[in-house]
Amino acid sequence: MDNKSEIYHTSNINWYPGHMAKTRRMLEENIKLVDVVIEILDARIPQSSRNPHFSDIVASKPRLIILNKSDMADSAKTEKWLAFYRKNNIKALCVSCQTGKGVNQIAPEIFELAKDKIEKYSQKGIKKSIKVMIIGIPNVGKSTLINRLVGKAAAKTGDRPGVTLSKQWIRLKDGLELLDTPGILPPKLEDQDAALKLAYTGAIKDEIMETELICYSLLENLIINYPELLIERYKLSEIQGLKGYELLEKIGRKRGCLISGGEVDMSRAANIVLEDFRSLKIGRITLDFAEEYNE
Ligand code: G4P
Repeated sequence: MDNKSEIYHTSNINWYPGHMAKTRRMLEENIKLVDVVIEILDARIPQSSRNPHFSDIVASKPRLIILNKSDMADSAKTEKWLAFYRKNNIKALCVSCQTGKGVNQIAPEIFELAKDKIEKYSQKGIKKSIKVMIIGIPNVGKSTLINRLVGKAAAKTGDRPGVTLSKQWIRLKDGLELLDTPGILPPKLEDQDAALKLAYTGAIKDEIMETELICYSLLENLIINYPELLIERYKLSEIQGLKGYELLEKIGRKRGCLISGGEVDMSRAANIVLEDFRSLKIGRITLDFAEEYNE
């Protein structure tokens, strides 16, 4: 690794002190109350947007993985992720909470995951809803999914006269209730590669790492994995072998991001590239590859 790359190092970033323990307690408490857990991941970075520190707790209940923001991900790569989950016997769906695509497949999958429980209830003659909670790191789309699932028809079950519950449950449809507050997991920051991918996507805020450094790293990643999209977007010629900062300088020059003396305003150029990436202007991109992982 050269000097320039070493300064991307992120190990000095700390999630709030005590946050992991607090999250653990919250999860342990809430998971006891539910039958199925929905874990939302960002389809562009399914591995980096997971936090494996909580897998042991989550594993105690049937789990549905939602690869959200699939409208922004490379669809061929998303297919590979879905095949990967199938191979590992994990239920997973590819969804776009923004467009609504795939959202109507969620309820049937939950009923399927909870079929033993439903069967047990029916044998005992009990009529009870299947209870679900949503978990995920910040910015993966938890609130957007809740809004999508809830729509207009939902009623908080605690609002019914005579019903007192310490938790608020939202009735989604007959036989299905959702915990109204999602479980927010801390992003996985100790893995530098994952932390950088979280920074590209905006899951961790730019103040934590310098925008220019995030952008150099993103460009180096894209030079390897999506060179044709970069060439097309910024009307470039040969880019192979360039360092991130060399490419950013070229892009900045093309975009007229100049300061006195004809130098490139790297900060402005970095903001343009990151904004282009986050608003899909570079194209649909996936930066974690299923082939590299074993569940
Ligand atoms: P969170 O609760 O997990 O923290 O995430 P939240 O729902 O707040 O979503 C984070 C951002 O991601 C929001 O954008 C939201 O609109 C966007 N988003 C959620 N699902 C999808 C999706 O399937 N596709 C795309 N393209 N975007 C999605 P934002 O810019 O932060 O807020 P806003 O401008 O939409 O209000």
